[in-house]
Amino acid sequence: MNGQLLKVENLTKHYPLGTGFLNKTVPVVRAVEDVSFSVEAGETLCIVGESGCGKSTVARLLMRLVEPTGGRVLIDGTDIAGLKTHELRASRRRMQMVFQDPYSSLNPRLTAGQIITEPVENFERLSRKQRQALAADLLRKVGMRPGMMHRFPSEFSGGQRQRLGIARALALQPSLIIADEAVSALDVSVQAQILNLLLDLQQEMGLAFVFISHDLGVVEHIGHRVAVMYLGRIVELAPCEALFANPVHPYTEALIAAAPVPDPTRVRLEVPVEGEVPSPVNPPSGCAFHPRCPLAVDRCRIEVPPLVPMADGRVVACHVRAPAADTSGRPVAAASSSLTVG
Ligand SMILES: Nc1ncnc2c1ncn2[C@@H]1O[C@H](COP(=O)(O)OP(=O)(O)O)[C@@H](O)[C@H]1O
Ligand code: SF4
Ligand SMILES: [Mg+2]
Repeated sequence: MNGQLLKVENLTKHYPLGTGFLNKTVPVVRAVEDVSFSVEAGETLCIVGESGCGKSTVARLLMRLVEPTGGRVLIDGTDIAGLKTHELRASRRRMQMVFQDPYSSLNPRLTAGQIITEPVENFERLSRKQRQALAADLLRKVGMRPGMMHRFPSEFSGGQRQRLGIARALALQPSLIIADEAVSALDVSVQAQILNLLLDLQQEMGLAFVFISHDLGVVEHIGHRVAVMYLGRIVELAPCEALFANPVHPYTEALIAAAPVPDPTRVRLEVPVEGEVPSPVNPPSGCAFHPRCPLAVDRCRIEVPPLVPMADGRVVACHVRAPAADTSGRPVAAASSSLTVG
């Protein structure tokens, strides 16, 4: 790891629901609230959380497929909001995306070779020979035979199609790949193969990943650091091993406690904590986790807990488990004991 590639500062995205009529205030979906993190070259930062917590919106904001309501995304220190169209195209070369469903993102009328070389052809004209050489090279990188370049997407299995999605993402030699639920639609044994491919590519090419998943087992396998999101906010960001060995935020703890033992044949739960995730249109006051949190105190209903740095390098947003120091540097509340979620 040698230097900061991506920096996200106070990123916020509110989606208005409908348009204002007669100056009525429009309700908004608070999809992402005040999210900050960074990714170093060669690093895997995982973003984990239940469905609807804002993971895909973060991915779209990073790729600038949607405009933020607030905050900044910097690539190699440059704010992507200020980029002109051609500069944005260049910055997109640095950052590529792999999607959950490779089938819907691969054009069924193009051959595998055409699909994976298309990103390069958007920048420069390739001769037939160059295209074939590039396609063969990319297919080999993702563990496929060059002869497969003449086949169509419908002739591949789900795992092979995801390999094509990865090959296409590699075509422009990016530094960072954003993978949004990239293995979630695959069988567990195929998931493991694709995760191992990503790990190999990272080793060979020094790639960084923002790896988004609702599945803690997958995250534990691939992550260097993990950001846990709840209702649009990061509630804990920690080195992967530390997070799994010793979760500090009550939500992280509940997620890990509810995740099944690492047995690839067992199904993981998508909603492991008791109670429904509240709506991001009208999120609970204070700490949004308070209606589901067995440790909640009065303050939790009133004040949003700030992300507080802990001694082991993690940050945690919890009034009880990670009390913010007052101006004298003393913690303002005592940390509480362990938690059971059932
Ligand atoms: N274009 C949109 N318009 C309105 N609401 C949206 C839009 N995209 C996402 N949302 C809402 O934002 C929240 C976060 O969604 P998303 O980022 O897709 O979550 P995740 O990927 O974690 O499941 C959800 O409540 C979702 O319904
Ligand atoms: S701030 Fe309060 S409600 Fe939120 S996680 Fe901590 S103890 Fe629970
Ligand atoms: Mg999503």
